[in-house]
Amino acid sequence: MISDIARQSIRTRKDYIPGKPIEEVQREFGLTDIIKMASNENPFGTSPLAMAAMIKEIQTNANRYPESLCVELADKVATKLGVKPAQLFFDNGGDGVITMIGLTFINPYDQVVTSELTFPAYENITTKMGGQMVTVPVAPDGCIDLDGLSRVVTSRTKLVFICNPNNPTGKIIRKDVLLSFMQKMPANVMIVIDEAYFEYVDDPDYPSTIPLLADYPNLIILRTFSKIMGLAGLRCGYAISAEETIRIMLKAREPFPVNRIAQVGALASLDDIEFYNRTISNNVAGRRQYYAAFEEMRLNYYPTQANFIYVELGVDSEAVFKKMLVDGVIVRPLGSMGRPQVMRISIGLPEENRRTIASLKKALDN
Ligand SMILES: Cc1ncc(COP(=O)(O)O)c(C=O)c1O
Repeated sequence: MISDIARQSIRTRKDYIPGKPIEEVQREFGLTDIIKMASNENPFGTSPLAMAAMIKEIQTNANRYPESLCVELADKVATKLGVKPAQLFFDNGGDGVITMIGLTFINPYDQVVTSELTFPAYENITTKMGGQMVTVPVAPDGCIDLDGLSRVVTSRTKLVFICNPNNPTGKIIRKDVLLSFMQKMPANVMIVIDEAYFEYVDDPDYPSTIPLLADYPNLIILRTFSKIMGLAGLRCGYAISAEETIRIMLKAREPFPVNRIAQVGALASLDDIEFYNRTISNNVAGRRQYYAAFEEMRLNYYPTQANFIYVELGVDSEAVFKKMLVDGVIVRPLGSMGRPQVMRISIGLPEENRRTIASLKKALDN
């Protein structure tokens, strides 16, 4: 069998199931009016400034390779963050960055530490590289247990992945907790803090991590244009770290991981303050809409600092997910994350939230 000649760490992996695409539900159910509340995308679409820049770029330059190092984008992001362009590493979405971190640092049998009930890409890349994943249960309040993580770090640990806010619980790690964790970590363990949803956070206890880079060369911060900027389909994410870390990661990278259209879209989106602010205020209102509905339905949920919400249904969430598909509503059951009675729901426009809540109520009632 061909699979017998594949690398063992690839052969033995489970298939990853992403959020169900709209096109698939259209085909399966013959529906046209579908809302996707499963992948934490931007409900307003894409920044109009980004869209205009991308249309111009595809009309004029699609035949040219993009700049490998995303120079203009790097300059602008660096100025915004107060770091050097050489401290930035762009790739094909945050997922691409996570893959490159794994390719750069994980040898077979290295240990990689993360939380259970977190973003699955960390485990995916660890097992692909033949590393050993060590996970620690989340605390009962849905927070990542950083003390627990620090206790399982050994001399074989190469990397620690921390998702803040955590996907899927929407909970943050507080400043003081993160600082004391960083102080405890050995200098030869790379600490990756995934901040894919940091723009949505309004809790004043959320740590600002860029200043930590000065003291911790082993820190890698991860961000993306997929969520707040509405560019998930274009694929552009980046890491911020010490120049030395970026230099070594660049050796692992493909030459052109961020296409031209994504580069100009990301660049232009940074000027679209109106789109950014509109997205944040819609999200704040959407959180309240769900909290009120879940309280009325007597469902337990975690108050969220992100653009999605974790809700316990008390029944099989896969069955509820299937019933909701018939209404054209795609949500995310978390059985694959070891929570068969939990749903993760992305926050959308008010009308999308209303329709999702109505469909959920209906599915739970029969
Ligand atoms: C926590 C987290 N990190 C990273 C990503 C990767 O995002 P992208 O590859 O679209 O940049 C996601 C996407 O859902 C995420 O939830």
